[in-house]
Amino acid sequence: MQGSANLNLMIKAARKAGRALVKDFREVENLQVSSKGPGDFVSRADREAERIIKEDLMAGRPTYGWLGEETGAAEGADPTRRWIVDPLDGTTNFLHGLPHWAVSIALEHKGEIVAGVVFDAAKDEMFVAEKGAGAWLNDSRLRVSGRGRMIEAIFATGVPFAGTGPLPATLQDLARLMPVCAGVRRWGAASLDLAYVAAGRYDGFWERGLHAWDMAAGMIIVREAGGFVSAIREGDDPLEKGAVIAGNAGLFEEFRKVIRGA
Ligand code: IPD
Repeated sequence: MQGSANLNLMIKAARKAGRALVKDFREVENLQVSSKGPGDFVSRADREAERIIKEDLMAGRPTYGWLGEETGAAEGADPTRRWIVDPLDGTTNFLHGLPHWAVSIALEHKGEIVAGVVFDAAKDEMFVAEKGAGAWLNDSRLRVSGRGRMIEAIFATGVPFAGTGPLPATLQDLARLMPVCAGVRRWGAASLDLAYVAAGRYDGFWERGLHAWDMAAGMIIVREAGGFVSAIREGDDPLEKGAVIAGNAGLFEEFRKVIRGA
């Protein structure tokens, strides 16, 4: 696709950070067997990836604001635009040597996400979208799935871990959804879950307790692939509340009703 200068900047930064992370990921596989384990090493890799991305993006657009998982928020001279970055989404997968993690970069303008990049560096899959220009995986246009029957559909979610989130709500969601669909997956990287909805690999995704950087880029990729995204609770802003639901055009309403318990 012919992306804007901003999108190209985002893609370049994601590739650079992705290359560094792939090298570190190979190292993690060796560290699994040491008694100290790879924990500190992965935290360093995560911080280094954010440093690489921040350096590139801020050099290219010095007036934009910033929200990053590792370095937090900073307002820019231009208060209408900011980067929203998760340098390593799926940290637990990375730590355990599971090749399912991504670099996630979004651009927000006046409170709306206008471009997004989710780069699965281990599989060399670059998911990108820009408002009005469609969504792409490498050089192919993305479309959400055309499935229209819940019983044939596969949904992804994230479940709270280590006491971090609303476990009973998620268990209730599962109790309502599992009997009426073809399956539920939990792969551990929310940005990729959303990208997979855009690619038609999943028919929908929902999760509570997320941060803006986990979902901002994936949200525009789903929308530009013809899917729908909203907060789980009616009227909320998903980026603010951290509870998001996304789905293909045919099933979104029905899926959302099941998750809302309506
Ligand atoms: C996590 C992943 C995971 C989700 C967690 C997130 P991180 O992000 O997206 O799928 O279930 O809620 O925190 O910490 O690996 O960047």
